[in-house]
Amino acid sequence: MQQHTILLVDDEAGILDIYREVVEEEGHTVLTAGNGREALDMLAAQPVDLVVSDIRMPVLDGHAMLDEMRRRGMDADVIFLTGYATVDSAVQCLSRGASDYLEKPFNVFKFRDKVHAVLNKRQQRRAQLDAPDALGLVHNLREAIAAHSDFKSIVRELLSHTRKVFDPDGLALYLVGSKGAAPSPKVVWGEAFRGGCDWFEAAAPHLFTSDDPALFSPGELTAYVPDCPSAVSVMCAPVAMGRGGYLVVMRSCESRAYTSANLSLLALFAMHGTSAFETLRVGRKMQEMNLEIITSHVASVEAKDIYTKGHSERVGQYAVLLGRQMGLPERELELLRFAGILHDVGKIGIPDEILNKAGRLTEDEFARMRQHPAMGRDIVSKISSFKELVPIIYHHHERVDGAGYPDGLIGDSIPFLARLISVVDGFEAMTSDRSYQKARSVEDTVSILRGNAGTQWDAAIVDAWCDVVHKEFLFLPN
Ligand SMILES: [Fe+2]
Repeated sequence: MQQHTILLVDDEAGILDIYREVVEEEGHTVLTAGNGREALDMLAAQPVDLVVSDIRMPVLDGHAMLDEMRRRGMDADVIFLTGYATVDSAVQCLSRGASDYLEKPFNVFKFRDKVHAVLNKRQQRRAQLDAPDALGLVHNLREAIAAHSDFKSIVRELLSHTRKVFDPDGLALYLVGSKGAAPSPKVVWGEAFRGGCDWFEAAAPHLFTSDDPALFSPGELTAYVPDCPSAVSVMCAPVAMGRGGYLVVMRSCESRAYTSANLSLLALFAMHGTSAFETLRVGRKMQEMNLEIITSHVASVEAKDIYTKGHSERVGQYAVLLGRQMGLPERELELLRFAGILHDVGKIGIPDEILNKAGRLTEDEFARMRQHPAMGRDIVSKISSFKELVPIIYHHHERVDGAGYPDGLIGDSIPFLARLISVVDGFEAMTSDRSYQKARSVEDTVSILRGNAGTQWDAAIVDAWCDVVHKEFLFLPN
């Protein structure tokens, strides 16, 4: 640990000697003062990292000394020694801006631990907030956000980086839920909010009025809410996520109050969160538009054959049910929905007479039919926002025993989502009327799926789908 300057303040010389011995052993520089007034003179003469002080002293007591320190902008941490450590006196020490307190009688181990903990925290705080490398911190956030493509993960990264960098006692994200409504808490974290925070709820409407980032220094919020502890500092930065909202960090101790430099950094964090969200929203919008266009192609494929009408839409719905049963994240459920709708889009290139043939296909006709996954891949790969769908569409007719097409892949080498689509595609096809067969019952279809689990289909996925079928489908007799 780095060496620090520590000022020990007590009117009993004997006690000062004991403190001195302990902190000098740790290699710190030690100064001593006999009362609050002497301590202030020494603090004015040189930089000090930590003051360890008695409360009851002649001339100027500990509380008055601390008030004067803060008034003069002296930022040393303070540990008070109190002979009557009730909850009230402890709260009073901390709310005045002390970093910690230590109950008398003197215990060397507790004393050393408290000094160590307070100095450690000070060191970390300085390393983070005084770092000139704000760009580095923003860069780290941007990199972390870029690894995700869903709203929840972006919010999680934004909040976890904000917590690490700003070391708050309270952190919150307030978002506007419905048009015209006031922002309400979406995420609330930290000691400052524990057990509810009525004064903050009362202050919120006054905090969330500006489109600019705002810093409320200790004492400022009491103008809006008299109950607000005077040592609290709060920073709010607007985030344009959905209908808008605010990223909020709070510190409860005056000696750790946020500064305008901290606010600039928080504003950058909020801007990056906003921009990631906007990129995601625009990307999704484009994807939906592309999906609409391609869905109209799928409709024209299905229009060629009345038996397949609605097949793709249902495969998409079933795939989402199955994905949810298997605990997949929202992003993959969305991919499954799109892949279900688009899996047979390549059939647009297959002649009508093959698609509508009532009897068995000849070898040549079947060879043509087997080209539809590759044609689907060629259509979908032209749209960059659909690139994740390409392997699912291309491999949806593979079999886990390697006897499928187009590449004859085996087992786990077939993309997982393609294996999943294959099960619901088979289920939907068997339970619908086709030009070449009448619809089977759900019960028969389930036994066919089970009978071919491990050869045509992935056994674990068939198991999961059968669970969905038992929950969602009625077993009707033929
Ligand atoms: Fe297909």
